[in-house]
Amino acid sequence: MKLLKVGVIGLGGMGAIHAKVCSALPDVHLQAISEMSAERLEAVGKDLNVQEQYRDGAKMIEQADLDAVIIALPNHLHAKFSILAFQKGLHVLVEKPIATEIQDAEAMIEASITAGRTLMVNFNQRFKPLHLAAKKIIAQEKLGEIYYAKTKWLRRKGIPWWYEAGGKGALSTDIAGGGPLIDLGVHQLDLALYMMDFPEVASVDGTTFYGLGKKDGERRSINYALEDAGVALIRFKDNRTLLLEASWIMHCKNTDEQETVLYGDKGGMRLSNIIEIYDEQDGIQMDTVIKKYDDVNEGGLVGHFCRVAQGKETPVISGEQALAGLKILKAIYKSAETGKTVYFD
Ligand SMILES: NC(=O)c1ccc[n+]([C@@H]2O[C@H](COP(=O)([O-])OP(=O)(O)OC[C@H]3O[C@@H](n4cnc5c(N)ncnc54)[C@H](O)[C@@H]3O)[C@@H](O)[C@H]2O)c1
Repeated sequence: MKLLKVGVIGLGGMGAIHAKVCSALPDVHLQAISEMSAERLEAVGKDLNVQEQYRDGAKMIEQADLDAVIIALPNHLHAKFSILAFQKGLHVLVEKPIATEIQDAEAMIEASITAGRTLMVNFNQRFKPLHLAAKKIIAQEKLGEIYYAKTKWLRRKGIPWWYEAGGKGALSTDIAGGGPLIDLGVHQLDLALYMMDFPEVASVDGTTFYGLGKKDGERRSINYALEDAGVALIRFKDNRTLLLEASWIMHCKNTDEQETVLYGDKGGMRLSNIIEIYDEQDGIQMDTVIKKYDDVNEGGLVGHFCRVAQGKETPVISGEQALAGLKILKAIYKSAETGKTVYFD
């Protein structure tokens, strides 16, 4: 099998992990890496023995001999670098959210179609063995039709202050495109939509909350201009409904609370760090707990992306699905700002 030559742009928290995963995958060669910070670039290059190093990601796309690129840059740069990569005929795995603006996400999809190359977004929650098992159970019709779902990712005190990119002294929408909704909510939303088979949206009602983050930011001399938390009710055209909650800072019980609950006409399912299924058989109410799952995907989503680029697997995640999620997130912010329901066509 021909080696897939991969480059990684951005070697912060996520990019360094992606580079490591790539370097260990069979039939994949981590050809080049790119990072603005010389220290990070050197450290990863040394650790993974990658000679081809670039400070400028655009230069790497232009000059390196690559088949695919993984983009782990701050959110506002996802579109620019993805489009550059497609113009060079590369497959692209980009971090979530797909982009900070709907038009940018649309342009990325367009560029991927024109290039005939894969666009995948790192919705790695879908590839957790627990969630892969849950999807399998749902595909076996164990829940019947899922008519209502609740999904949340709440952090008690977990603002990612390192998103304060470029030493601007601010955590603002121009870099991240939003706060916990677009950072954590984007994962939970995607996961719930995936479990519900991406129903068409009818309307979105959203609320955002502010205050705690601003106070915490003042202590660090960072102007925190994002929401602390967001809540939304998403109604689908077939009347199914999804409740989404996301927070970076909130007086919730635990440091980190991540949970999805799906209610179907045959059974219910709760996903946290285990799977619980609730149903009824012959008048007997049954609770099933599943704790062990085979990890069948070598390299998680990055492994899947590489195998898709090699033509060995068909993509589980599409740019269109990521765009559908971004449209909902944008509608949540709009609804929160205007105090009105946002209706979809
Ligand atoms: N999928 C997940 O679970 C998950 C988790 C955390 C973050 N993320 C996403 O990953 C992305 C990066 O987040 P992170 O936490 O790794 O941030 P980070 O700040 O740790 O890393 C970003 C890196 O990009 C570098 N960079 C910025 N501009 C560059 C350029 N023009 N060329 C080369 N390098 C450049 C920065 O120096 C930094 O090292 C974000 O989009 C974030 O939403 C995803």
